[in-house]
Parts: sequence; C-alpha cells; structure tokens
Amino acid sequence: MDGNGRWAIRQGKPRSAGHEAGSDALKRTIRAALGHGIRVLTVYAFSSENWSRPKSEVRQLLDLFIKALNREVRELAEHGVRLCFIGDRSAFSRTLREGMLQAERRTAGNTRLHLNVAVNYGGQSDVAAAARALATKVAEGRLRPEQIDREQLEAALSLGQQPAPDLFIRTGGERRLSNFLLWQLAYTELYFTGVLWPDFSEVHFDAALSDFARRERRFGGLGRVQNA
Ligand code: IPE
Ligand code: MG
Repeated sequence: MDGNGRWAIRQGKPRSAGHEAGSDALKRTIRAALGHGIRVLTVYAFSSENWSRPKSEVRQLLDLFIKALNREVRELAEHGVRLCFIGDRSAFSRTLREGMLQAERRTAGNTRLHLNVAVNYGGQSDVAAAARALATKVAEGRLRPEQIDREQLEAALSLGQQPAPDLFIRTGGERRLSNFLLWQLAYTELYFTGVLWPDFSEVHFDAALSDFARRERRFGGLGRVQNA
C-alpha cells in the first residue's frame, strides 16, 4: 500500500492526510476482496524499516492503527473476516498489542476472508525467526538438522499455515518488494501500478485481477503450449 505521502503532498495536505485516505482505500479493497470471493488478503501496513521515518509520522501511523482497529473490527467480524497480524509486535504499545490480540480472538472463528495485516514486518527477519525456531528445536533434541527442509522452514514462517499468494500488487509506482513476504513470493505473479494507494479503488483492483487472469503460471514447468 504505497503512495500515501505523495497523494497528500499533491493535494497540498500533510502526509498524515494521505495515511487517513489510505485507510479508506484499505476498507474499499477489503470490501472488493469479499465481493470477489478472495479467501486470503495480506496487506503491508508498516514495515520494520518504517521506524526510520520522523517520530511524528510513526506516531500518527500507530495512532491510526489503533483508531482503525477500534472502529472497524466489529464490521469486519460481521462480514466473516478473520484478522491476523504478522510481524514483531513487541515494539508496540500495550494498547496496540491488546487491540490486535482482541481483534484476533474476536474473529478467530471466521472463515470467509483471512486478512493478514503485516505490521513491523520484514521478510528477512521472518526467515531469520523461522531459522531460530528450528535451531531451538534442534538444540532441545526435538528435531534433527537433516530433517530441516523447505516444508519445515515454511511452516515456521509467520504465514506458515497459509497458501502462498497468487498475486502481489504494489501501488505507487515503485517496482520492488521492499522486504515483503520474500519466501512466499517465489512463484507469485507480480503486478505494479502507478496508482497511489489512496486512489486505489475497485476498478484498479479489477484491472489487477484481469491482468492476473491472463498470466500463464508454469511454476518452473513447461506450460500449456509445450505440454500439448
Ligand atoms: C505507504 O505510503 C504507507 C506506509 C508505509 C505506512 P507512503 O507513506 O510510503 O507514501 P509515499 O511513498 O511517501 O508517497
Ligand atoms: Mg512509500
């Protein structure tokens, strides 16, 4: 979800207004995902690198999360959304951590849409944490090193039990992953758009889905034509 700041500046507003508008765009996107019967949606709300922004912006973003949680959880719960947060929460305030935990508990039984929100998340740290978890098991004698394979490592990641994403969408014009879900994106279709996140609407979402529908996914194989 990139481009909030530029969207605001273009309108002569403070960056904070961009983040506010960005939270509306997220709401619209969740609604669109529900409408399309999408089962899993993972959004990058705050990266472990975002701490390097000015303190005031970080504070505003975190305040916005708390406000959005308080405001939206009931409606999300009513629509069958299951909320999960991935990333290192230990850096957050007690209020925010409690809010996240409560939202997860409250929606734990929902199955229509699994909404993962990445906060203080970094893909490299995720892999490192998984390696640490496996190393601990080895040290405790519960796992042998030769048992460590792709599946073991994957299961230890924060999205371990969930399918790899089919489609990755980045708004705001940059063409990079910025440390998002590095492991899981191995065979994901990548889609980049110059649309700034606060402008992102169902029309843009549909365009991304149509583009995705035209891709031929071979997963390293030969695909339709050569296999025929
Ligand atoms: C993305 O928008 C929002 C977060 C990282 C939370 P930016 O704040 O990165 O917006 P730009 O890239 O400066 O326009
Ligand atoms: Mg940005």
